[in-house]
Amino acid sequence: MEKKRILTGDRPTGKLHLGHYVGSLANRVRLQDAYECFFIVADLHTLTTKPDRESIEALRTNVQNVVLDYLAAGIDPAKSTIYLQSAIPAIYEINLFFEMLITVPRLQRVPSIKDMAAAANLNEESLPFGLLGYPVLQAADILMPRAHLVPVGRDNEAHVEVTREIARRFNYLYGEVFPVPDVLVSEVPSLVGTDGQAKMSKSLDNAIYLSDDAATVRRKVNGMYTDPNRVRADVPGRVEGNPVFIYHDNFNPNKAQIEDFKTRYREGRIGDVEVKQALAEAINAFLDPMRERRARFEAQSGLVERVIYEGTQRVAREAEETVTLMKKAMGLSGIWNRISRRARQAIDREAKATEQE
Ligand code: TRP
Repeated sequence: MEKKRILTGDRPTGKLHLGHYVGSLANRVRLQDAYECFFIVADLHTLTTKPDRESIEALRTNVQNVVLDYLAAGIDPAKSTIYLQSAIPAIYEINLFFEMLITVPRLQRVPSIKDMAAAANLNEESLPFGLLGYPVLQAADILMPRAHLVPVGRDNEAHVEVTREIARRFNYLYGEVFPVPDVLVSEVPSLVGTDGQAKMSKSLDNAIYLSDDAATVRRKVNGMYTDPNRVRADVPGRVEGNPVFIYHDNFNPNKAQIEDFKTRYREGRIGDVEVKQALAEAINAFLDPMRERRARFEAQSGLVERVIYEGTQRVAREAEETVTLMKKAMGLSGIWNRISRRARQAIDREAKATEQE
């Protein structure tokens, strides 16, 4: 029996961090065997808010970094297909057809559009058409390989809902071409930042990256926000909501050690330094296998590029097939097919006539 298909991916905006790992990468690595997985590097989506030359220039290293992070995290290119969105023209075609199947007010109600616009300092007057169409392009991504399941964070749930509506609408108008994909929302709440802010993120400068070396991890952990009321090691501290303990729970496999730390912390019998040192060690042990894989991929020049190249070639065939199916279902291919067939016949007749002369 054929495996069901997963599609998910990221905009290549920078290096991936521990928050990405617990929120989505771990899930992807885990699902690789049970599903046929497609991971899209959605560079076109970055143009919705950043179409300038410098931003496009920055995509080059960002694409490389994201894919290297995928590979380091354990996504196996022998099992899963990693590919570059902008290298698949069929996605642009599918996007156009889908634009006809959804209304402007429906897209205006997608909450993340407003959030992304606000983050990019755009208002109603300056909102790009393409940013409003962000979920439509995402629908093209998802339905291009005719995916069944889309693992995403909560912020992307509404986009998958748009995808489902477009798939249903297409199937209703033209016949069953697409599965209506299910969303798999990550149960893991977003990881706190090293500064105690709700979310680890590059823009908040509170992230530990998968590519950080051991010394950087030690430095970042050492500077982490803990219980601000705890001015000395003998003052009872708060464990709940304390980022240092949240990270221990996520990355330290030694549960007995964590329990011991928590008890002593609450009773004021352990210093922050000791808890942090153990945490840095745990995170470094957690990142070590990723560092090894990263080093292996980096050692061979062109290897990351080859993963993207082969993945993109593999998916290009898939994409062509989907566009052909769509145009056939829509009755659109018939127009051009008839024109080109008759044109070729006319050309042939003319050639024959000149031959006989
Ligand atoms: N919108 C996703 C993000 O927030 C990126 C993305 C683009 C995506 N196309 C996708 C995610 C398709 C899942 C499926 O970065």
